[in-house]
Amino acid sequence: MDDRALRHVFGLFTTGVTVVTAVGPGPEPVGVTANSVTSVSLEPPLILWCLANKSTSLGAFGLGAPFAIHILAAHQADIALHFARSGRSKFEVADWWRSHPTPPEVEGALARIDCRVDALHDGGDHTIIVGAVTGLQARAAAPLVFHASRFGRFERDCGAGEADAVSQARDVWE
Ligand SMILES: Cc1cc2nc3c(=O)[nH]c(=O)nc-3n(C[C@H](O)[C@H](O)[C@H](O)COP(=O)(O)O)c2cc1C
Repeated sequence: MDDRALRHVFGLFTTGVTVVTAVGPGPEPVGVTANSVTSVSLEPPLILWCLANKSTSLGAFGLGAPFAIHILAAHQADIALHFARSGRSKFEVADWWRSHPTPPEVEGALARIDCRVDALHDGGDHTIIVGAVTGLQARAAAPLVFHASRFGRFERDCGAGEADAVSQARDVWE
């Protein structure tokens, strides 16, 4: 299998962008940009994401560990890039973690989903992390979108014909 072709085709699946934060095994918290987040189950409420086994943050996601998924808003591409850089402190600007034993908050995100690690599964060069949802926060804002290695915005109206499909999708899901 051609590695470049695989990356390219996987990258054609358009996603939102999240930053996942956790308390961390060391003195500092961890934060990772992730677009592999997928909802799994409503009853019980479960969500999953995939973390590379080479990530320096993996140790923060043991069974039962709390973590928080932040769905980024359209203006937060710089935050996505900040938390995508490995091998250095990502929280050097504040010493908030001394007073906050919970996973750090990414301010301005359009939603925060608090979880505890419910299961870990082998996923090749990634670990599939299943989270049991323990809390939800959301606000109205435009989402950040990722497609073919580029950030973009969600275009709500996709033409007259498709407008019906949009409202139908809403009827099915809500
Ligand atoms: C838009 C975007 C999405 C990403 N999604 C994932 C992902 O789902 N899983 C993953 O392991 N890495 C993903 N990455 C790469 C990680 O963010 C990056 O490797 C990670 O922050 C490494 O930091 P660490 O070694 O400190 O954990 C993504 C990067 C970007 C820019």
